[in-house]
Amino acid sequence: MKFTRNILCIGAGYVGGPTMAIIALKCPEYKVTVVDVNEERIARWNSDDLPIYEPGLLQAVQAARGRNLFFSTAIPEGIRAADIIFVSVNTPTKTFGLGAGMASDLQHWEKTAHQIVAHSEKSKIIVEKSTLPVRTAEAMERILSENKKDIHFEVVSNPEFLAEGSAVNDLLEPDRVLIGSQQTETGLQAAREIADIYSHWVPAGKIITTNLWSAELSKLVANAFLAQRISSINAISALCEKTDADVAEISFAVGSDTRIGSRFMTASIGFGGSCFKKDILNLVYICRSYGLEEVADYWEMVIRMNDFQQGRFVKKIIREMFNTIVGKKIAMLGFAFKANTGDTRESPGIFVAKKLLEERADLVICDPQALGNARKDLAGLDGNVAFETDPYRAVAGAHAIAVITEWDMFKKLDFEKIFAAMQKPAFVFDGRNILDHDRLFRIGFNVFPLGKPSLTHFR
Ligand SMILES: NC(=O)c1ccc[n+]([C@@H]2O[C@H](COP(=O)([O-])OP(=O)(O)OC[C@H]3O[C@@H](n4cnc5c(N)ncnc54)[C@H](O)[C@@H]3O)[C@@H](O)[C@H]2O)c1
Repeated sequence: MKFTRNILCIGAGYVGGPTMAIIALKCPEYKVTVVDVNEERIARWNSDDLPIYEPGLLQAVQAARGRNLFFSTAIPEGIRAADIIFVSVNTPTKTFGLGAGMASDLQHWEKTAHQIVAHSEKSKIIVEKSTLPVRTAEAMERILSENKKDIHFEVVSNPEFLAEGSAVNDLLEPDRVLIGSQQTETGLQAAREIADIYSHWVPAGKIITTNLWSAELSKLVANAFLAQRISSINAISALCEKTDADVAEISFAVGSDTRIGSRFMTASIGFGGSCFKKDILNLVYICRSYGLEEVADYWEMVIRMNDFQQGRFVKKIIREMFNTIVGKKIAMLGFAFKANTGDTRESPGIFVAKKLLEERADLVICDPQALGNARKDLAGLDGNVAFETDPYRAVAGAHAIAVITEWDMFKKLDFEKIFAAMQKPAFVFDGRNILDHDRLFRIGFNVFPLGKPSLTHFR
């Protein structure tokens, strides 16, 4: 088949893979190639054991792969052939040098820009898909315009708003697609070409075009606002535990105000994932670099509150289990940073596991998708950790259960059977408020929800 456009995506991760699968699915006349330096990842994209778990993703990949969707490690060839290049490489928090622990590490992104210059023989549109600091496109344009080949690269920002765990659905039915470009003739034309891709399945009213800097900054701001809501309700959960108010009732009462809304209003052990923390840290760093100290402090509190919430959860486990958990078996139900993903980057589970091990508890970690990553995250730590896919085996002989991830399967467990198999007194610390606490209490558990009165059998 003759394809009308060659699209390349550099970076076959949580964003590049699913995004390109959906573009290929919806635009059969375009050839979509996804490249990565990671050979193992590419091999898995070419198998039915995909490198990431997302509901519906395997079906989408299978429908387009080999037809107009290709996964490859041939980066120079891919660049040469492409009309449009999406750059979807990782931009983690910098761990060294200036801005360490705050700024974005742009080394992968810059390497990509140099590769594009080295291997291009014709003009192209370069699309920033990765989340980048505001005004990164300016630097990218500088690198790209250093070429001596008399070819033009137009840089467009098209940040991705998908959420892990619902990526396929988010891509199929996005709230909006954001495309930022220079407000020049070539810039606006490039934005129209990118909008054309999405218009195959996204209604025109949901495709927003802006200037480049608004698009770059909108992504950081969207994540900061979402994380802020979680930190806001988590802050209130701490106050609820002091006052016998119930944070779930507060979420409902407050979220029923249509000006506020009900989403992202559930108290939890805290947010995780690869994006919220790094994007807010990056926002804070940018604000400080412009001398906006108060603005930086304001957003930094969102992260401090998240750290506080995770620390509070661990302290509660230790305090309620009579101030010692040495040699006690604690079953952690869940390790992924949220349900329906195997991703554990910045998962509160990592923090909780490390702290419980420092207190010399024996851990069993149970998660339907994240045990491979959990093993890597906890490798080399002192202490007893076991990994178990079967929740009933995980809790056998345990002193306590700590719910870390809101997987549906944990709600449906037979807690009578679990209670019978556990040490007594049996404790449940529900870091997601997903279990039926009254029922657990009636079975005999001592139950410690988040932001609600605890239910104990102690006198
Ligand atoms: N994960 C999410 O939910 C999410 C959502 C929206 C936006 N984002 C943003 O998208 C970007 C990518 O995130 P991700 O989660 O997909 O990261 P990821 O780590 O899963 O994937 C990035 C991929 O890029 C590859 N890569 C790095 N340098 C390369 C190079 N020079 N050439 C070829 N391949 C290279 C890596 O090998 C890796 O497979 C980040 O900027 C992130 O902030 C992520």
